[in-house]
Amino acid sequence: MSETVYERIKKNLEILNMKNTSLILDNYLEKAIRDKKNIVEILDYLLAEEAKTKKNRAVENQIKMSGFPYRKTLEQFDFDFQPSINRDQIMELATMRFVENKENVVFLGTPGVGKTHLAVAIGMIAAQHRYSTYYINCHNLIAQLNKAHYENRLQERLNNYAKYKVLIIDEIGYLPMDIQGANLFFQLIAKRYEKNSTVFTSNKAFSSWNEVFSDITIASAILDRILHHCQVISIKGESYRLKERKEMMSNTNTVVNTLFESGS
Ligand SMILES: Nc1ncnc2c1ncn2[C@@H]1O[C@H](COP(=O)(O)OP(=O)(O)OP(=O)(O)O)[C@@H](O)[C@H]1O
Ligand SMILES: [Mg+2]
Repeated sequence: MSETVYERIKKNLEILNMKNTSLILDNYLEKAIRDKKNIVEILDYLLAEEAKTKKNRAVENQIKMSGFPYRKTLEQFDFDFQPSINRDQIMELATMRFVENKENVVFLGTPGVGKTHLAVAIGMIAAQHRYSTYYINCHNLIAQLNKAHYENRLQERLNNYAKYKVLIIDEIGYLPMDIQGANLFFQLIAKRYEKNSTVFTSNKAFSSWNEVFSDITIASAILDRILHHCQVISIKGESYRLKERKEMMSNTNTVVNTLFESGS
């Protein structure tokens, strides 16, 4: 028996990997006929929907591959809680102009002030714009580079990290780094210098980076390259984690007091 036009359409949609069109075709065609849509309108709708799903899927894949520790957005960031942050500067970063200009961004501040949240939120926007984006914390980065060095694959690994349009290196300064680690870090920064954007977060002021990198010469060579084209966002404020803890404690106290009062 020869195939019907409908069967042929379904088969070709499968060959063309147009999963969404295949899924919505029946219902949409019925509705389109009822609404007296013409063929151009029907094609326009189906193709636009297919393109939208494909784009969403690609963005979702990009976000998954970026290795974020959590998903946080700028909309979820309470700027009122952290008044030392210039909201306009963050919104400017969200336009991705810094990526086009190959500039770096450094978030500095004590624990819990939102450094990783902001770095991830900016990274998510980069991923949504389909810039290759990757998140790694500094300790893991050095461990990976060390491993590659001992396996004689250092250049390959460095090239791999160097190629990301946006690389987020989180938590510089939390764990000590030996000279070998600092050397490897320098090689990566030198490779990315003026080629691609790197976003850093650190709990240490630049004046303490000598200690972070165990060597004053390497530290100043690293800083020199990072800061040449860079926006520094220094966050001075309270920890959001502490605020949430305080709120939780005060809620618990209220519940306990209410229980006591109703029991007495
Ligand atoms: N201003 C804020 N508005 C909403 N959530 C916030 C804000 N600041 C921080 N948070 C939340 O508080 C938690 C801690 O923030 P984050 O991980 O960004 O801290 P950090 O500065 O990176 O700290 P650390 O140096 O310890 O890594 C996260 O869940 C984050 O989403
Ligand atoms: Mg952090």
